[in-house]
Amino acid sequence: MVMFKVSKVETAPIDGQKPGTSGLRKKVKVFKQPHYLQNFVQATLNALPANQVKGATIVVSGDGRYWSKDAIQIIIKMAAANGVKSVWVGLNGLMSTPAVSAVIRERSGSDGSKASGAFILTASHNPGGPTEDFGVKYNMENGGPAPEGVTDKIYQNTTTIKEYYIAEDLPDVDLSAEGVTKFGGPEGEFDVDVFDSANDYVKLMKSIFDFEAIQKLVASPKFTFCYDALHGVAGAYANRIFVQELGAQESFLINCVPKEDFGGGHPDPNLTYAKELVARMGLSKANPEANPPEFGAAADGDADRNMVLGKRFFVTPSDSVAIIAANAVKAIPYFSSGLKGVARSMPTSAALDVVAKHLNLKFFEVPTGWKFFGNLMDAGMCSVCGEESFGTGSDHIREKDGIWAVLAWLSILAYANKDNLQNDQLVSVEDIVRGHWSTYGRHYYTRYDYENVDTGAAKELMANLVKLQASIPDVNKIIKGIRSDVAEVVKADEFEYKDPVDGSISKHQGIRYLFEDGSRLVFRLSGTGSEGATIRLYIEQYEKDPSKIGRESHEALAPLVEVALKVSKMEEMTGRSAPTVIT
Ligand code: G6P
Ligand code: ZN
Repeated sequence: MVMFKVSKVETAPIDGQKPGTSGLRKKVKVFKQPHYLQNFVQATLNALPANQVKGATIVVSGDGRYWSKDAIQIIIKMAAANGVKSVWVGLNGLMSTPAVSAVIRERSGSDGSKASGAFILTASHNPGGPTEDFGVKYNMENGGPAPEGVTDKIYQNTTTIKEYYIAEDLPDVDLSAEGVTKFGGPEGEFDVDVFDSANDYVKLMKSIFDFEAIQKLVASPKFTFCYDALHGVAGAYANRIFVQELGAQESFLINCVPKEDFGGGHPDPNLTYAKELVARMGLSKANPEANPPEFGAAADGDADRNMVLGKRFFVTPSDSVAIIAANAVKAIPYFSSGLKGVARSMPTSAALDVVAKHLNLKFFEVPTGWKFFGNLMDAGMCSVCGEESFGTGSDHIREKDGIWAVLAWLSILAYANKDNLQNDQLVSVEDIVRGHWSTYGRHYYTRYDYENVDTGAAKELMANLVKLQASIPDVNKIIKGIRSDVAEVVKADEFEYKDPVDGSISKHQGIRYLFEDGSRLVFRLSGTGSEGATIRLYIEQYEKDPSKIGRESHEALAPLVEVALKVSKMEEMTGRSAPTVIT
């Protein structure tokens, strides 16, 4: 057995290591600076209860982006030096964020041990490569992201750190071969277990969904499908699940080979960045496709996000979670005994609220960030939840889950078509969404993103909007001067949340303007960018009248968009005449 020594390395605090919504995200060149990653990892280990480090098992893996393999070796050496007993690593260093969550919750080591947490190396949907982003976040023993109490402590530790521990002479572990490698250190044995997490993940998915029912749908020659992993880590699971388990054709999968730079693309599953899928699905005006597949879906870099498309049809993430919730009990065995409750993030449209009301379900509106759902799920208060930011999931794990969302939609389609597979036409994604709107009404919805805006300008724009909230009559005067055809604002505030489980309060979670007819304008600064500020503007309008639910979304929302841009003085303040991305 190879023996290793522990070195104590002197270091000093490095500015700017405050974790954002989902961990620490910076350019690769920032992470590569001497001691940068090491400081953050030690600060994290020091923030955890001692028994979750000493003698514990931790997971270290990620979405495979550039520099991941180096970072994994560094973290393994630091784990060894800090007295960790075992490190579990995905084959080739790959593990999707939802698979990490599943592994923490479900996997047992050969001695029955369970993992107490995970370092996840990802910057999610941000591009990768030598000049792009890297990221590290820590998930806890419930499988969910570290709560604010822990991330605050990590940050505090980064501001006072003086030394870190590392087993410099520990040889690099071969991440390309499955198996356990054992080492000996001052505190006893240390081992690294490299395994293919697709096995654990597939097992979990099979315990949730009716794979046989989905197989029947997929076997129908009328059912065509396109799954785009955008060269992210979802590719490491897609072939296994969709092709091997469900019988889909290999040609249904595109960009499913994980790449360190995501093939040069932006691994964010939306209408702007998932270009190839969007064109295949017949949604690109410049490139009309004669015969698009029935169903399309994409994932982000670490495979926790999803986008769902039908033939020439986009499903908004806000509608997606509402439709999954409305159909879960009948279409997904895991939910057959009912939903414990449902939840959405504040900027997500109120489509889910309407379903909750109809079905008499517990409902929660939380701030942006998956960790807020985790608390509700741990307390048994929520089964299905989702966000406008292309995140959908359930209490099977404590992260959103891109492939789960696709399987949920396949289940809904399989259920809707169960007596229909011999007929000429399948019930389509569009049929399901339109059917939903006619039952529950439609929430027209769009989001405008202004990326990499000057931070000062973004803060000023937000401050002005808060100031304006002091007088609702003044707001209405301004708005009527812009468009007389929008409803009155009845309430304007900054969203604040009191967690019903632990009582913690989160303030300043987005600026809201709520209109009399249920319409909303929401302004937020993104918590996941790595450079400058990103302003997000969320625009929503509810339409119950069945004769008015078939409009083009951009037409229906045009008055509210005009109001939002003018009220916020978007162009004047940011110098941007158009958003970077519209979803
Ligand atoms: C991550 C989190 C999501 C959150 C999203 C918001 O993906 O996991 O829960 O909705 O970031 O990002 P933003 O850039 O809007 O802060
Ligand atoms: Zn992600």
